[in-house]
Amino acid sequence: MVRFFTAGESHGQGLVIIIEGVPAGLPITEDYIAVHLGRRQRGYGRGGRMLIEQDRAHIMSGVRHGRTLGSPIGMTLENRDWANWQSTMAVEAVDDPNADGRGQRITRIRPGHADLPGAMKYGYDDVRDVLERSSARETAARVAAGAVAIRFLEEFGIILRSHVVSIAGVWAKIPENIDWKLVEDSPVRCADPEAAALMMVEIDAAKEAGDTVGGTVEIIAENLPIGLGSHVHWDRKLDGLISQALMSINAVKAVSIGPGWETADLKGSQVQDVILPVTDPDNPWQRKTNMLGGTEGGMSNGMPLVARFAIKPIATMVNPLPSVDLDTGEAVQAHYERSDVCQVPPAGVVGEAMVALVLIDAFMEKFGGDSIDETRRNLQGYLKTVGPRKVYQ
Ligand SMILES: Cc1cc2nc3c(=O)[nH]c(=O)nc-3n(C[C@H](O)[C@H](O)[C@H](O)COP(=O)(O)O)c2cc1C
Repeated sequence: MVRFFTAGESHGQGLVIIIEGVPAGLPITEDYIAVHLGRRQRGYGRGGRMLIEQDRAHIMSGVRHGRTLGSPIGMTLENRDWANWQSTMAVEAVDDPNADGRGQRITRIRPGHADLPGAMKYGYDDVRDVLERSSARETAARVAAGAVAIRFLEEFGIILRSHVVSIAGVWAKIPENIDWKLVEDSPVRCADPEAAALMMVEIDAAKEAGDTVGGTVEIIAENLPIGLGSHVHWDRKLDGLISQALMSINAVKAVSIGPGWETADLKGSQVQDVILPVTDPDNPWQRKTNMLGGTEGGMSNGMPLVARFAIKPIATMVNPLPSVDLDTGEAVQAHYERSDVCQVPPAGVVGEAMVALVLIDAFMEKFGGDSIDETRRNLQGYLKTVGPRKVYQ
């Protein structure tokens, strides 16, 4: 079992990450993890915070001479912005929490954020006690853990990618063969340059109006072996696990596997992916289409895994919504603090991390092994058995 934990507040000293269950012998470096953290920091429509941070995870444990030991991998990720929040976010009680000028109680609840339910649930009278952890700063920790999972999947030829499909109602025309370099270079991580330009116009307009915009992201995992996940129990189904992982990303409101919602309007003959006669023994189960996004019965079926999610516009707005005060219940304008206008491009990088963390767990459940070599042997042995029965056994 591969599992991970994160800890840390948005303006606290930093983030802490533990990922456990990664087999020994996986080559991994801080530089590699930094590449993924850097991808999360970019994106048109991000706020000023990302100019302060230069995210780099520091590996504390579980790696020796560039290879995993099989023990828990511990990492820390410093918040540079902490320097400006030392009294507001002090661990010890302080005489003047507002010595840094940021520590005043927040009582003007933001609709659409965790503020109200969080304050009620935990008995807080300062919304900062909620927002520090509900902030998407935490997703940097997920990306650090996810980078280890992506590195593991690469060892087995599995490639994970993401691209932005829509922002603010502008939809990309997705080319049949996506140019992934173009996506990585695009300020909105979009494969369609014309749509990308229009998306940026919408982000600018929202910024001008003190508003925010959301969108849709697609994650694709290629070269997955057939049979990850299981049909035998609800909480082992790969599509269910992927959906939960993506839905857990801050502000995500819908997840689909493949075209998802669209399949509801089609006929059965249009939705199932017809299986082609086997011609290539190394690649036996080919399909004409991938309408089901690479899963059947809660298991990977050998086609690319395709998952989409819709992410809502950010709740913190320069032009705040009418709200109420936590103390008095009277009408006020919602709190504003430095925020993104559009978080759709970085959300794709977070989505890749979450899918990778589900896939490494499913992979290790199926193939096991305490070292990468053992896992590889187990995979190779399995792959010898997955062709047509009379040919392979
Ligand atoms: C990459 C990323 C960046 C985000 N940046 C912000 C932000 O700057 N301001 C904000 O209010 N919400 C931001 N969010 C969304 C909030 O974290 C989220 O809306 C909040 O935690 C409430 O959770 P919910 O929307 O899932 O209900 C961001 C989300 C992601 C994925």
